[in-house]
Amino acid sequence: MTATPQTENRQPQAHVDLATEILRLKREMNAVILAHFYQEPAIQDVADFVGDSLQLSQKAAAASADAIVFCGVLFMAETAKILNPGKLVLLPDLAAGCSLADGCPADEFRTFRARYPDHVAITYINCSAEVKALSDIICTSSNAEKIIRQIPPEQPILFAPDQHLGRFLIRNTGREMRLWPGSCMVHEQFSERKLLELKEQHPQARVLAHPECREAVLRHADYIGSTTGILTTARESSAAEFIVATESGILHQMEKACPEKKFIAAPTEGGCQWGEGGACSECPHMKLNSMEKLYRSMRDRTPEITLDEDLRQRALRPIQRMLEMS
Ligand code: 13P
Ligand code: SF4
Repeated sequence: MTATPQTENRQPQAHVDLATEILRLKREMNAVILAHFYQEPAIQDVADFVGDSLQLSQKAAAASADAIVFCGVLFMAETAKILNPGKLVLLPDLAAGCSLADGCPADEFRTFRARYPDHVAITYINCSAEVKALSDIICTSSNAEKIIRQIPPEQPILFAPDQHLGRFLIRNTGREMRLWPGSCMVHEQFSERKLLELKEQHPQARVLAHPECREAVLRHADYIGSTTGILTTARESSAAEFIVATESGILHQMEKACPEKKFIAAPTEGGCQWGEGGACSECPHMKLNSMEKLYRSMRDRTPEITLDEDLRQRALRPIQRMLEMS
């Protein structure tokens, strides 16, 4: 992949091979590149590590490099900064948000918590640093069940911000929880009706789904879990065909790991309300990052994640509890 990088204060350069330049800058900066499974394939291929939210926060916590270049969305890069206040943390596009984080403003979450003062607040990592700071324990889709099972049975629980993951956890653990009514704009789009049609066309296919999907979709899944869980299941399963109900970026690693197997992105209902460019099963936030923006962010060392130190310390506690309980 090539590009002609140019910014206002620099002369245009000759075409550069972005992957080669990114790797050169990485060595020069002593950086580590962490990427989520929903990033475009070229970014996944240039990263040092590709993983789910929990693995990425564990990698960030253990990072020895001077800089962390985070190819994911803002809440992930913020988590890396919370864990590494002394390191440069870059996010190629600072506008890469998340509908779950955006749908849970800190002031409204504070009011929600205040209504249930005796509840422990377990909050999905897909939230802002401010909401993390107001929470007791952070979780991801891969450790939420394990964490909830460690909470004493008499202790009431608040769970935010994903209602579908929350309901899935209530069903699996038998624990009643008060839920914040948030959802993921991508996982909510999968269509039960079209999924059933697809299953009829591919009767041998196994359905792998992320717990952010609606219950109507989850009830048809053979496996429900985090992106890493979905990848591992595909690798270990004896099935030859899979319908995948999560962001379609994961298909890249699935196809790399199992070239002999067939992976079909689960269908979404109707038109795509967030633009015509991409598929509805693509996260428009995750896809804001590109090889070009990754290259520029490393070259210019911006946009950098910065956090107020008091906020960082308050947000760190529930993340540390998560890491201890995982
Ligand atoms: P995972 O932690 O399963 O990778 O999920 C991240 C995410 O944003 C799901 O939409
Ligand atoms: Fe947020 Fe959904 Fe995108 Fe994940 S896929 S980052 S939950 S909007």
